[in-house]
Amino acid sequence: MSNNIIIRAKDVQKTYNTGKVIVNALRGLDLEVKQGEMVAIMGPSGCGKTTLLNSLSGLDAIDEGVIEIDGRNLAKMSDKERTAYRAANMGFVFQFYNLLPVLTAAENVEMPLLLDYQRRIKPKEARKMALEALAAVGLADQIDQRPTELSGGQQQRVTIARALVNNPAIVWADEPTGDLDSTTSQEIMDLMRRLNRENGQTFVIVTHSQEIGDQCDRIVWMKDGVVVSDTQTQSAEVAANGHANGNGHTNGHGNGHTNGHSKDVAIRETLVPELQTMSAN
Ligand SMILES: Nc1ncnc2c1ncn2[C@@H]1O[C@H](COP(=O)(O)OP(=O)(O)O)[C@@H](O)[C@H]1O
Ligand SMILES: [Mg+2]
Repeated sequence: MSNNIIIRAKDVQKTYNTGKVIVNALRGLDLEVKQGEMVAIMGPSGCGKTTLLNSLSGLDAIDEGVIEIDGRNLAKMSDKERTAYRAANMGFVFQFYNLLPVLTAAENVEMPLLLDYQRRIKPKEARKMALEALAAVGLADQIDQRPTELSGGQQQRVTIARALVNNPAIVWADEPTGDLDSTTSQEIMDLMRRLNRENGQTFVIVTHSQEIGDQCDRIVWMKDGVVVSDTQTQSAEVAANGHANGNGHTNGHGNGHTNGHSKDVAIRETLVPELQTMSAN
């Protein structure tokens, strides 16, 4: 992890006005994320996690405050520039970014490359990159299969391959393991952790799972549209020690698995009951 701040959000406010009700989804949120950091965003349903990802990535406009990605203010770009910036620098593992059922795994993964009108990647090159990304997520043998022919975990791997095919600086993941059983979630988490450590990509992961959160470097807890707690996990210390020894790589399995106790136990204890009662969304 470097000391470069790649995501900087200052006093971000965002309101949804449906005509009937006004929802203050983000109420003066501050956040800084270092390049190469893996951050979990946690908090009760409706606290603004998805809104935060949409705002940070420039998918949604904010009402007040400033967001800078690698020193650039996406709000000041034209729609076209912003779209191109996202295509070149960001990967999305979002539930609504579903795989297209009529396309094979390879076709789904190469899609963002073929849509990148600025880089004009040739189809042959796009296919090569897609196959490499699928191999990286362990799906070298499933390239010609359609989503319905894959398990839930395999489908989510395809989504991750698609998010990573462009080698983006930042990967946004909104409940990437939400629909998966615990073994498969752990596989997906191991995969993201490995890609993070090997490629130094920054991950911002919204999750309801404490286990997933503990394997990130840092857990940011939100409530009512603001950050209420922000703590390093033991996984971050593992990563830091690894670097100190000149080895930033994981030792394969198990390394990401710690019993990270975040320090703000009191705050967590007030939030966990809410987490347990909320509906999955
Ligand atoms: N498009 C929208 N229109 C109106 N209200 C919305 C919209 N999206 C989210 N909200 C509201 O904003 C708040 C934050 O939502 P969201 O960011 O989805 O929370 P989370 O991801 O933490 O569950 C909630 O009260 C939600 O109902
Ligand atoms: Mg959400």
